[in-house]
Amino acid sequence: YVIGVDLGTSAVKVLLVSRDGVVKEEVSKDYPLIQPRSGYSEQDPEEWVSKTVEALAELMTRSDVDPADVEGLSFSGQMHGLVLLDREQNVLRNAILWNDTRTTAQCRHIEEELGDALLDIAKNPALEGFTLPKLLWVKEHEPDVFERAALFMLPKDYVRFRLTGEIHCEYSDAAGTLMLDVTEKVWSRRICRAFDLPESLCPPLVAPHALVGTLLPDVAAATGLREETKVFAGGADNACGAIGANILAPGATLCSIGTSGVVLSYEEDKTRDFKGRVHFFNHGKADAYYTMGVTLAAGYSLSWFKQTFAPNEPFESLLRHVGNSEMGSNGLLFTPYLVGERTPHADAFIRGSFIGIDSSHTRDDFVRAVLEGITFSLNESLAIFREAGKTVDTVVSIGGGARNEAWLQMQADIFNARIVQLENEQGPGMGAAMLAAVGCGWFDSLKACAERFIRPAKTFEPVEEHVARYEELFPLYQKVYAETKELS
Ligand code: XUL
Repeated sequence: YVIGVDLGTSAVKVLLVSRDGVVKEEVSKDYPLIQPRSGYSEQDPEEWVSKTVEALAELMTRSDVDPADVEGLSFSGQMHGLVLLDREQNVLRNAILWNDTRTTAQCRHIEEELGDALLDIAKNPALEGFTLPKLLWVKEHEPDVFERAALFMLPKDYVRFRLTGEIHCEYSDAAGTLMLDVTEKVWSRRICRAFDLPESLCPPLVAPHALVGTLLPDVAAATGLREETKVFAGGADNACGAIGANILAPGATLCSIGTSGVVLSYEEDKTRDFKGRVHFFNHGKADAYYTMGVTLAAGYSLSWFKQTFAPNEPFESLLRHVGNSEMGSNGLLFTPYLVGERTPHADAFIRGSFIGIDSSHTRDDFVRAVLEGITFSLNESLAIFREAGKTVDTVVSIGGGARNEAWLQMQADIFNARIVQLENEQGPGMGAAMLAAVGCGWFDSLKACAERFIRPAKTFEPVEEHVARYEELFPLYQKVYAETKELS
């Protein structure tokens, strides 16, 4: 067996996976977000560690597998979060997470200081969610903390450090810091110097499949795993989501709808230039990349709607009647900018809207409008991929957005692409387990592993007439951003 640990934003999920890719057992443990002020989003790294250890212990007890049969373990993690350590490797403050938006001023400063060099080196623009602006925020607002900082780490890398005693960062997560020279795969001296950041703040870099160590004796004792269990570096959650959905060759595209939503397309050409309109990060597969669009409030828009207007109703029943509303939600349009938007607008201040509310509208129209708005938002990023000449004809859909057939058909119609739903889809945790499986030598490549582990379940074909209707509505959706920008 191998174990995939997925350190998410709301929970850590651990999967015990067999040589055939079958999930023998899974355990998930929640932890809270700490939001002391509007726009702030933090977590206590200690909580990640204790919940991961608890989850692993429960996984071993519940599965009743002989620890000697667990060969390796790897990680997937929420991206961009800043963990700061002092010289004794103690955590200096709560981690500042990817969905924290306090760093607009630092982003402007980064752009002014680096100009075009930022896109040349880091391949991405300065966005509030990324790590460098968070580091600069601490430097400016908490100088006493910054002065004591000896090292920064990303969330899953910190957990791995606590499990193994070894400090590393790997390329796929490093790409989301804005400090990595993405094509050279080294920390950028130019960027560190521009902001007077000692290079010693940056952890040593390794590949996602690298063997980084084994378990510390106290961790082995607490989890029931053997000290000899091999630990592999792992990858960013989106890179691991891509691995776990077999997005491993040119033309492969992923749509992942969880709290945030992502569309992601495999890439090998590192010279491609999207002018920062979509993200460009290192893949979990060696020498590969991916382009990615992010909708910050994807599943979150739906859970906000449910929480606000139908708190006692399960999601299934809320979504069951979506078919009662027509394509276009009878003239109701929603933009999902509840917490600002990432791609393509890079605007932390824009806010969402319902437009065209009519006295005849029902709750089903509102729910449908929310689903359509989320899907239109992701389609804006797919449109950028297509404009750049990328083929998007088949999209593997994972996460909460892949659990409802009406929504999957909507994705096919709005994306104008075949949508593939996977059998027993497990998201990034499976990608992490696959990195461990390849690391343990079970397969020669991630591709070979995916052929064994990942199976399509069902496909949804775009319906010509629906595609035509959504092609009429999409430009209207796109107009709303500019028209509501002034209001926010
Ligand atoms: C990607 C991003 C999110 C987080 C969620 O840039 O910020 O998808 O990785 O965990």
